[in-house]
Amino acid sequence: MDSLTVIKELEKQRDQARMGGGQARIDGQHERGKLTARERIEVLVDPDSFEEYDMFMEHRCTNFGMADKKVPGDGVVTGHGTINGRLVYIYSQDFTVLGGSLSETNAKKICKIQDMAMKMGAPIIGINDSGGARIQEGVDSLSGFAEIFQRNVLASGVIPQLSLIMGPCAGGAVYSPALTDFTVMVRNSSYMFVTGPDVVKTVTHEDITQEELGGANVHSKHTGVADLAFNNDIEALLQVRRLFNFLPLNNREKPPVWETDDPADRVEMSLNTLVPDNSNKPYNMYELIAKIVDEGDFFEMAPDFARNIIIGFGRMQGSTVGFVANQPMEMAGCLDIDASRKAARFIRFCDAFSIPIVSLVDVPGFLPGTAQEHNGIIKHGAKLLYAYAEATVPKITIITRKAYGGAYIVMSSKHLRGDINYAWPTAEIAVMGPEGAVEVLFKGKLNSDLEKTAQVEAYRDQFASPFSAAARGYLDDIIRPQNTRWRLCRTLDMLKSKQLENPWKKHDNLPL
Ligand code: HXC
Repeated sequence: MDSLTVIKELEKQRDQARMGGGQARIDGQHERGKLTARERIEVLVDPDSFEEYDMFMEHRCTNFGMADKKVPGDGVVTGHGTINGRLVYIYSQDFTVLGGSLSETNAKKICKIQDMAMKMGAPIIGINDSGGARIQEGVDSLSGFAEIFQRNVLASGVIPQLSLIMGPCAGGAVYSPALTDFTVMVRNSSYMFVTGPDVVKTVTHEDITQEELGGANVHSKHTGVADLAFNNDIEALLQVRRLFNFLPLNNREKPPVWETDDPADRVEMSLNTLVPDNSNKPYNMYELIAKIVDEGDFFEMAPDFARNIIIGFGRMQGSTVGFVANQPMEMAGCLDIDASRKAARFIRFCDAFSIPIVSLVDVPGFLPGTAQEHNGIIKHGAKLLYAYAEATVPKITIITRKAYGGAYIVMSSKHLRGDINYAWPTAEIAVMGPEGAVEVLFKGKLNSDLEKTAQVEAYRDQFASPFSAAARGYLDDIIRPQNTRWRLCRTLDMLKSKQLENPWKKHDNLPL
């Protein structure tokens, strides 16, 4: 072939690859309210930044008439681009080609991108929209999944890995997203389950739709499998861009520092009245977060799951900080199984990626009851304790009100190597709440309500203030709420040179 012919052929093949499974299937994708694999990448990365690889790769399967069903690229678009100028690797499954199913070839393309992301130290974003293992290829396809999983595991804690679920994600395929750091779903067009409704019907005789079994609402509200859910592809992709801006490229780099006009020494007088006089009254912890982070910009993770604890990223003086905060508006801010799991994983992400952790504490304790005990709150609560205790990034704690019992210890107390622990004047730090404590201490010994009230008051006077803890050095200072932002900014500055290493080990054995 002369060079002109080669170029013509190249363009022909490129056009063919860009068309994926053809116009009819592209239209079908749009009719379902979904973008195509390539359109998604366009929204995700900076304009003209995407470099595609392996556009001409084809599968080698000949079973079931597959020799005639070849599409250049074989149903997945892979390459790299930039998000706000920072390198990112991407794969995007193309549902218009054999349902985006994963072939041996298809997996090789994804693995290549995973390997490059590791070599270059850049995050990887996987866009999932696939019928799972390509059935015609049998075990070759399964091996492809396994190769991807193995790389997900080795990359964990080295580069951030994000998964977008924008269509079906079924069978073993769900385990790649589950191994990554954050999973984002789209409402009404994505679903994740290990076995679909048909198998469920056969085995358990349950009639259930895909949405009810593993839709975005199920996973973002009830299971915690998805960290975020959005109404459509565009919203999800734009929010992932925003999330990306908070993250470092890898575990050897700090997160990016963004310019801010928000003064570090901003005083917030309104915080002085945030905590109500009556200590049983709730208040909204989001208000505190919004008032202390740069420009009120807080990117919350898992907002609809375990709402009794808030996790997410904000910035202080332009640098990313991970926030973990009890939410008195939900279950009085108690820690339960879901809250423990949710916060533990987030803390471990922050620790792996050099993101300082600020904990805002108002916690009456672990949630009592058989449901919690029989479902393993001991093991799950231990995850949170473990995560805080092993974290070596800067850890700052602010106790705004209650810090009782085991939950006081767990929520980044001084005893778990909290670097700087502050309390507001409204802090109450004790083994348990005054009423409960008096019940135990004076069981059967108090003759009237009046006597009980007197003992409750006495207990409250002793412990319902930050002074006992401060007197022992368990608090570094008692700060005025209005000064929280600038005290935090200054402390984070001071902690920038923190050096702390855990003892050498092959790996830990955290309670799973
Ligand atoms: C090959 C597949 C496919 C697959 C879909 N297609 N899934 N081809 N292997 N896994 C093809 C279809 O044959 C069809 O081709 C085209 O993609 C579009 O699929 P439709 O069924 O027409 O689309 P829709 O009605 O939207 O249904 C989507 C779907 C369904 C729910 C995903 O296709 C489906 O149930 N697929 C099989 C899912 C599955 O059981 N996968 C294996 C899971 S086990 P034509 O040419 O007719 O348009 C697994 C193991 C992984 O993944 C283990 C890892 C450890």
